[in-house]
Order: sequence, then structure tokens, then C-alpha cells
Amino acid sequence: MRIILVGPPGAGKGTQAARLVERLGIPHISTGDMLRAAVKAGTELGKKADGYMKAGDLVPDAVVIGMAVERIGEPDAQKGFMLDGFPRTRPQAEALDAALSAAGVQLDAVVLIEVDDSLIVERITGRRTDPETKRIYHMTFDPPPAEVAGRLVQRKDDTEEACRARLKKYHGETAPIIPFYEDKGLLRRVDGVGSPDAVTARLTAALGG
Ligand code: AP5
Ligand code: MG
Repeated sequence: MRIILVGPPGAGKGTQAARLVERLGIPHISTGDMLRAAVKAGTELGKKADGYMKAGDLVPDAVVIGMAVERIGEPDAQKGFMLDGFPRTRPQAEALDAALSAAGVQLDAVVLIEVDDSLIVERITGRRTDPETKRIYHMTFDPPPAEVAGRLVQRKDDTEEACRARLKKYHGETAPIIPFYEDKGLLRRVDGVGSPDAVTARLTAALGG
């Protein structure tokens, strides 16, 4: 299956993708994770992306499109993929369309995880990630076990200020891709509020069980 997960920061894209890809046997492709890895490794791409990410701005399309299209061309993505955080602008959606058409393949679904803005800041500022397992936790909603608590890290863009900037970018630049996919008959809306298990069940149903 070729699936795109869309939703505001903190909607649960990363949390849900990690659960779903295991069952579907497809790679989880998160442009945010790829960019953070590039920043950490100090590559040219990472140096370009770092400032935008810290401020909660989008990394320019010219940087992200090449990186994402190259990734979906890799062997493990030929059987399908779950994209998380890409596309997130209209030009990115159009570039993905062109790349998939050129490869003679089609998307199966675009799933929008809906969470009201009022819940986002608390989700984002409470997030911690395990650098070893990449497991995402939340200090209140999904607390880590004591044995991993000491090694958890917080993302640089998980401050309240950067979170508000990211939400603004989401509504201004990413939300316009929703009608693009709705017109193609690919969009499925899923309520992202409730326990992570409840959201997984809704996503599974939206993807046809
Ligand atoms: P990216 O990494 O994609 O971040 P984002 O879209 O802002 O989304 P998040 O990762 O913050 O949230 P999520 O939906 O994955 O939520 P999670 O599951 O972690 O992008 C980061 C930056 O990279 C961008 O700002 C931009 O600069 C750049 N970038 C990336 N892609 C780009 C692109 N295509 N173009 C341009 N720039 C790009 O959950 C969040 C928290 O909530 C966790 O603590 C979790 O435990 C908790 N939680 C999850 N589910 C629930 C639930 N059901 N109830 C309660 N809490 C929950
Ligand atoms: Mg994420």
C-alpha cells in the first residue's frame, strides 16, 4: 500500500505510523526524521535545514522534494510506503504526483489525522523520544517506563513558541493539500483524539481493516 499520513504537529503521525507499518510490512518514511538525522550527522542538507526546523518553519521545497523522491525510489519502498510529514505543501504534493506517475504507481489513501489546535501545545511540549529505540512517549499521556526515562530526549522544535509557528505553517501551507487529495477521492479523515489504541483502530478501519 502507498499511504500518506497528514495532520498537524502532534496529531500522532509518528506514533501511529510506527504501529501500522509493522502490520502492513512497508517502510515508514518521515521527512522530519530524515531531516533530524541529517542535522545530527552535520551533512550539507542538515546544515541547510537546521535553522528552519528550530524556528518551526518549513524547510524549502527544493531541499525536501529531492530527498523524499529519492527515498521512495529505494528498493524497500517499491512494495509500498507510509509517508509521514511529506508532502506538506502544494508543490510537494504535485512533485510526488509526478514522481509516482513516472514510476507508473498510484497512491492508495491519504489519511488526515484530525486534532484540534487547543490540544496540540500540551502534546508537543510533553513529548520525549527514546534515541535508542526511537519510541515516542508523552510525559502525561504515554509515560515512559523508569528504565528508559533517563535517556529520553526532547526535540529542539518542541518549545511552545516553535510549536505555535509550526501550527501556523500547517494551516497556511499544509492544509491546502487536503482539497488536492479530496478531489482525487483519496482522502480519509480520522479523529485523532482519544487513546492511541483507539486512534489505531480508527486508522486500521479507514485503511480497510
Ligand atoms: P515533523 O517531524 O514532520 O513534525 P510535525 O509534522 O510537526 O509533527 P510531529 O512529529 O511534531 O507530530 P506527530 O504527528 O508525529 O505526533 P507524535 O506521534 O510524535 O517535522 C519537523 C520539522 O521538519 C518541520 O517543522 C519542518 O521544519 C521540517 N520538515 C519535515 N518535513 C518537511 C517537509 N515535507 N517540508 C518542509 N519541511 C519539513 O505525537 C506527539 C505527542 O503526542 C507524543 O508525545 C505522543 O506520545 C503524544 N500522542 C500521540 N498520540 C496521542 C493520543 N492519541 N493522545 C494523547 N497523546 C498522544
Ligand atoms: Mg512526527
